Amino acid sequence: MLDRILNKCEEEWIRALTHKKHSFRFFNLATSNTNIPELRVVVLRDYDSKKKEFTIYSDARSQKVLSLENNKNVELLFYDPEKLTQIRVQATCIQMTEDNSLFDQQPAASQKDYTTRLAPGTFIESDISVDFLKGKHYFMKIIFEATQIEYLQLKRPVHIRALFKKQESKWIGKFRTP
Ligand SMILES: Cc1cc2nc3c(=O)[nH]c(=O)nc-3n(C[C@H](O)[C@H](O)[C@H](O)COP(=O)(O)O)c2cc1C
Repeated sequence: MLDRILNKCEEEWIRALTHKKHSFRFFNLATSNTNIPELRVVVLRDYDSKKKEFTIYSDARSQKVLSLENNKNVELLFYDPEKLTQIRVQATCIQMTEDNSLFDQQPAASQKDYTTRLAPGTFIESDISVDFLKGKHYFMKIIFEATQIEYLQLKRPVHIRALFKKQESKWIGKFRTP
């Protein structure tokens, strides 16, 4: 049963890569730079089930990148509203790379997201005062490696809660009181 739960989570992360409407395509990424938590929505771009690695793309000038430089510990939160299932993944940021060839493979509209003249978060006069750079980008690939996965499904008669942790090279699961 525990193995089935973890396998199901992995199957859903993989499905989310190709199914645009999948509820795990967007997830919440929590970082902590000082002692103030920082949460934001990001897109799951890749998932490696062998290494349990999650990839996102971002602007290298964004606050999350600054925060990750100071503190590599993060939490990822996935939620499926139909199955009332929440998955909390504790992870470590293991890679932040400005990847030119991957940038070239992105659709033109997406490429634009990483080419604003001013850094993300800079105050501007109006919503139309956004300029884009030509021939320069701040596209960054960021990879998180899971260290702990907690699954919770609300259902009757009993909710299901389980914790999976990496011990040496194996993932060991245990049920918890929901
Ligand atoms: C639906 C949605 C998807 C988003 N996807 C991403 C993403 O994949 N990468 C990203 O850096 N920001 C994404 N954002 C924007 C972030 O939520 C956030 O506002 C931005 O990255 C700045 O965050 P920061 O200042 O903490 O770095 C997305 C926002 C929304 C609403």
